[in-house]
Amino acid sequence: MPAPMLPSDLTIQVFPDLASTAQAAAGIFQDSARRAMRARRKFFVMLSGGSTPKMIYATLAAARRIDWGKVHFFWGDERCVSPEHSESNFRMAHESLFLHLDRPLNIHRMRGEILPWDAAADYEAEIRAAFGIAQDVADDPPAFDLVLLGMGEDGHTASLFPGSSALQETTRWVTWVEHAHPPPPLLPRLTVTLPLINAARQVVFVVTGESKSQRVAQILGPHSDQDLPAAQVRPRPGKLIWLLDQAAAQHLQL
Ligand code: 6PG
Repeated sequence: MPAPMLPSDLTIQVFPDLASTAQAAAGIFQDSARRAMRARRKFFVMLSGGSTPKMIYATLAAARRIDWGKVHFFWGDERCVSPEHSESNFRMAHESLFLHLDRPLNIHRMRGEILPWDAAADYEAEIRAAFGIAQDVADDPPAFDLVLLGMGEDGHTASLFPGSSALQETTRWVTWVEHAHPPPPLLPRLTVTLPLINAARQVVFVVTGESKSQRVAQILGPHSDQDLPAAQVRPRPGKLIWLLDQAAAQHLQL
């Protein structure tokens, strides 16, 4: 069976290092925000967790040409911990970005401190309310203006891990997963699902480091392994961009 063609509107950009890759991601964030605010006077962005985005958020903290009051911050996933916990994705964004903006913000936090199944339902209701979509009606997922994603060495993204039943979810926009395999921390997690990610206007992966290079080649190379969660992120009609540093892109023939 011929390898599935990668999305025609897939863009791959390679940068020398983490700093320049993060700078490019911050630039895309600002461009996407300006377009959304011109068109809809709001910017709905889904942030990623993990360590890579810290530099993106720190770069954005210095950006001066964004009307932060019109930005609505969401998350693609969260560990089931309190917002003060060292493993909280909210805490990471709060410390690297929100604290430096020093103004009221529209923050739509995943409530990792409550029962996971309640938190998942709560977050879908939060998304529906923010987009003005009635609760409890079957609806197509809303289009976030920008979804920022990272990728783990195992090819996971958000908290969609290889082999997870969450990858088969076709109706719920948010779910929760037991997380009993590496990478640590082995905590239950909340995650958005592929239908919601793939409804986005623009999805940007930011992946750096040698340790990711084999997986990147498995996903973006000529024989894309569609079993890997990150390979299943294929927004349509939205745009898909992979921002890589040279270390992560080293096995790609570009
Ligand atoms: C999380 C993230 C996760 C992350 C990857 C890459 O909560 O951990 O959402 O999907 O993006 O694990 O993490 P690093 O950027 O730390 O390599």
